[in-house]
Amino acid sequence: MLTRRRFLRTTLLGGAAAATGVYAWRIEPHWIEIVRRHLPIRGLPDALAGRTLVQLSDIHVGRRVDDAYVIDTFQRVAALAPDIVVFTGDFISYDDTVFDRMARVYRYLPRGRLATLGVLGNHDYGHAWSHPEVAARVTEALAPFGLVMLRNEVKDVSGLQIAGLDDLWSHQFSPERGLARLDRGRASLVLSHNPDSVDEAGWDGFEGWILSGHTHGGQCKAPFLPPPLLPVRNRRYTSGEFALSGNRRLYINRGVGHLLRVRMNVRPEVTMFELCGEAHSTSSEQGDD
Ligand SMILES: [Fe+2]
Repeated sequence: MLTRRRFLRTTLLGGAAAATGVYAWRIEPHWIEIVRRHLPIRGLPDALAGRTLVQLSDIHVGRRVDDAYVIDTFQRVAALAPDIVVFTGDFISYDDTVFDRMARVYRYLPRGRLATLGVLGNHDYGHAWSHPEVAARVTEALAPFGLVMLRNEVKDVSGLQIAGLDDLWSHQFSPERGLARLDRGRASLVLSHNPDSVDEAGWDGFEGWILSGHTHGGQCKAPFLPPPLLPVRNRRYTSGEFALSGNRRLYINRGVGHLLRVRMNVRPEVTMFELCGEAHSTSSEQGDD
């Protein structure tokens, strides 16, 4: 027989589970955190000190990510008036209607005053990450909105060299080509979607920061524990900052979008870096709703 105490306990537990589910589905996936950090770069030209670089990643425009949420995020980034904007891949989750959606959403793509650059992720290569024609279309669709896609290429932005490496899982990653034109004596920064790419051969003495995404921070995790699901070989690469061999540092952004719409203890992220010379080596971190 259902006692009053058991009834209350069952009701409370059921209510808590339902509230947690609603939170993880309706609230947290759209509760963007603007993470502010310093980005110390050796040899940074004086003119770039104090300038801002916003990193956006894993937007995943498609059926599972709310268009209005992405547009709102883009407008919030534009309001920050960043000097440089970089996208670290997974612009879309591919389906045959995604290009119409792209045209509607990426119309609001926030641009940097000095540059707006991106690299491709595995999802930008369509099904099984194996359709270069989809990646070409993604690249073409974004160009009218001011985004320059770097496909194993380097772009000089007011004396800062930004190298963009193509995607690892779609077998387009080529640090040999992408880093070949970097002048090692000058300030540089690398964009590469998949954090596992840092452990591939071909980095050839590159020192400095690599900005990546891809993991979404695992999307869900228990407090104080690593996320159980991560699409990386090296499970150390969750989110945030990591020291690497060869004087390299990695930053993994948790992404704006999602695959399944569920996030728990892993809020979506926009990173707002302030560029500084390497002497300024303390990187601060603070959230801002
Ligand atoms: Fe992604």
